[in-house]
Amino acid sequence: MKVGIIGSGGREHSICLSLKNSSKIDKLFCFPGNAGTKNIAENVNIDLENFENIRNFIIKNKIDLVVVGPEKPLVEGLVDYLERFKIKVFGPNKFASQLEGSKIFTKQICKKFNIPTAKFGIFENEDKAIKFLKSTNFPIVIKADNLASGKGVYICNNEQEAIVAVKEIFNGKFGKAKNLLIEEFLEGEEMSFFTIHDGRTFKNFDTAQDHKRVLEGDRGKNTGGMGAYSPSRLINEDLKNKILDKIIKPTLKGLSELGTEYKGFLYTGLMIVKNEPYLIEYNVRMGDPECQTILPKLKTDLTDIFLACCEQKLSEINIEWINKKSLCVVVCSTGYPDTFEKNIEIENINNIQLNKDEFLFHAGTTEKSGKIFAVGGRVLNFISLSEDLKLARENIINNIKKLNWSKGFYRKDIGYKVID
Ligand code: AMP
Ligand code: GLY
Repeated sequence: MKVGIIGSGGREHSICLSLKNSSKIDKLFCFPGNAGTKNIAENVNIDLENFENIRNFIIKNKIDLVVVGPEKPLVEGLVDYLERFKIKVFGPNKFASQLEGSKIFTKQICKKFNIPTAKFGIFENEDKAIKFLKSTNFPIVIKADNLASGKGVYICNNEQEAIVAVKEIFNGKFGKAKNLLIEEFLEGEEMSFFTIHDGRTFKNFDTAQDHKRVLEGDRGKNTGGMGAYSPSRLINEDLKNKILDKIIKPTLKGLSELGTEYKGFLYTGLMIVKNEPYLIEYNVRMGDPECQTILPKLKTDLTDIFLACCEQKLSEINIEWINKKSLCVVVCSTGYPDTFEKNIEIENINNIQLNKDEFLFHAGTTEKSGKIFAVGGRVLNFISLSEDLKLARENIINNIKKLNWSKGFYRKDIGYKVID
């Protein structure tokens, strides 16, 4: 069969590779893909906002299944649009994608179903928000309601910082803002918990710990993710059951009462406080870099899993995993997450010889005349599977040293809480 993958990051390269290993795949297409997907799929250069062109390409090339990687096309309704033309698509519909697209939508579900989350208030204008800030304790968290590529969240340590955040959001830094969210700061350790859904049933899809800050020791600005390890050191049977019973099942019930069902990956971002889970956010997709950290451990054919989800037969599938741990380090362009140069050649990439249990996924790369160039902030993902995360990290760092790329940087301390 032919499968199309929407997106161009490390997440999509890892999905392409997992599908490529399936005997059922004849051809993969990646929209628009990167230099890594180009080796295993046909990259299709189409504007992801042009749903009609995407649909025409899919129909013309007789693509049997489409997998949507990133949040933006999900939140904009690509799944609903393609399904109207009887195209099989893995991913949630536009309504359910509000779980990621609107933080206030999610908070309202939390309130109705008593889902543990940070206490919050919704403010419709600058004056009311600033008035509230005069009487509150710090730190406090201020969030834009809409999609902001992880940048619309401010952790504020005092009133001045909070006022800047409120003004930036209402001045439209993340698009037109009708309101914003002010919430209690939760002190604990974060965990990413993944599930996969077919609209009727769902299954667990492993856990990970992302490292969102740009500098070692979790300092500096927030990024899309500098590296991850899996499984999270925090997961245990008791915690897993609490997450399912107190957070995920009530959310699905809430969606069902609102008249929709959930199909696709669901990423539950949690703060764990003394073995109790609090919902920080939902994402309606796999995480990046969590996806490229987790998928190499998957034993079960990913094509079968996606098809089962589209046919509401997930209950018939047993999802199996290789019994190893996984670690991923992201190599970024110098300057990220602020400005960085583009079109810089990665000269030594062919020096990297991967052993079994090692993986290299591209993110912001492009290929021109056989040479690989960095065109994005996050550029390459190095993954290693091992019984021992310390060994996995050493393998990765050896590989990155062979890359010896002067225009890039990476965190050497991924997994430090569990390794060091
Ligand atoms: P979000 O985009 O909502 O995931 O927020 C981005 C990051 O901000 C999270 O990964 C957390 O590290 C942090 N964060 C968000 N909300 C809170 C909160 N209520 N308490 C503490 N940290 C938070
Ligand atoms: N790694 C965080 C995210 O995918 O949103």
